[in-house]
Amino acid sequence: MTVDKNWLDKLPKVELHLHLEGSLEPELMFELAQRNAITLPFDTVEQVRQAYSFSNLQDFLDIYYQGANVLLVEQDFYDLTWAYLQKCHEQNVVHVEPFFDPQTHTDRGVAFETVLNGISRALDDARLQFGISSQLIMCFLRHLSEEAAFATLAQAEPFLDKIIGVGLDSSERGQPPEKFSRVFAKARELGLLTVAHAGEEGPADYIWTAIDDLKVSRIDHGVRASEDASLMSYLIEHRVPLTVCPLSNTRLCVFEEMSQHTILKMLEQGVCVTVNSDDPAYFGGYMTENFVALAESLNMTEQQAIRLLKNSVEASLASEQRKQQILEMIALLPADERG
Ligand code: ADE
Ligand code: ZN
Repeated sequence: MTVDKNWLDKLPKVELHLHLEGSLEPELMFELAQRNAITLPFDTVEQVRQAYSFSNLQDFLDIYYQGANVLLVEQDFYDLTWAYLQKCHEQNVVHVEPFFDPQTHTDRGVAFETVLNGISRALDDARLQFGISSQLIMCFLRHLSEEAAFATLAQAEPFLDKIIGVGLDSSERGQPPEKFSRVFAKARELGLLTVAHAGEEGPADYIWTAIDDLKVSRIDHGVRASEDASLMSYLIEHRVPLTVCPLSNTRLCVFEEMSQHTILKMLEQGVCVTVNSDDPAYFGGYMTENFVALAESLNMTEQQAIRLLKNSVEASLASEQRKQQILEMIALLPADERG
């Protein structure tokens, strides 16, 4: 039986891999550019969408960092985050753990506090208005230096009550996780949890060093783990979660076609894989669209969708009480919808 979009929409969902800057839709980009008197290298929203054709991660990152230039004042960061949370509300996403990239903004002269306050205010409002719970993760840009990452961590120190952990993103090739071992050690000393992008374009070895050196709670992407049998056994045995992003992987040519994606194979092998949208404004879809892509191209069953979702609850950094609440929401689905 094929899984229908309406059912996937209704499913209570959890998103663990989402870059807030990657949720900037072209319409909001234009609105903010106008508000902040910034000239965009595009005349129309259609032109922007046409430019979203990427052959690899770096191609995308160049455009993604350019897009973020329209974000200047606290209200911009609020509007960006709020637009994402409204989409979550529409799609029944009940818990989110978004990333933000402070260096993308502080390097342009925007204060760390401006970024964090705008984002946090929107997360607080969504908790009250929509009942969406959240935990915020601050990422270091791995193409920048260890020194720059340390400086960013120092800027975050007064605000650690608003941040659950640190992550590592941006250009992966040639930027191994161990470059940031000391920064991550310091972050852990400060009580922060750790995650890292690894094995998206980079080799399976980067997944090992993210685990061994950065002591991550989960791996972002991690699809190249399938190239290393002993790593696969480790991930399965230790239930190390992978936050997989199907539409992102096809848009960035990690897999040529969705039909070649290995997420369901990994699920069946016993890996704690989860479904996420990464940069939905750039890759053609939010949570529901990612699940729909798996149903259409990989014949995902309702049971598999529920198992993917339960993996997300297990992998989340939410409190045990919140995890139980979400599992109860799933259990409350009518029997034929529970899979
Ligand atoms: N920053 C935003 N999206 C990213 C991705 N898919 N990989 C690495 N860095 C990113
Ligand atoms: Zn990502």
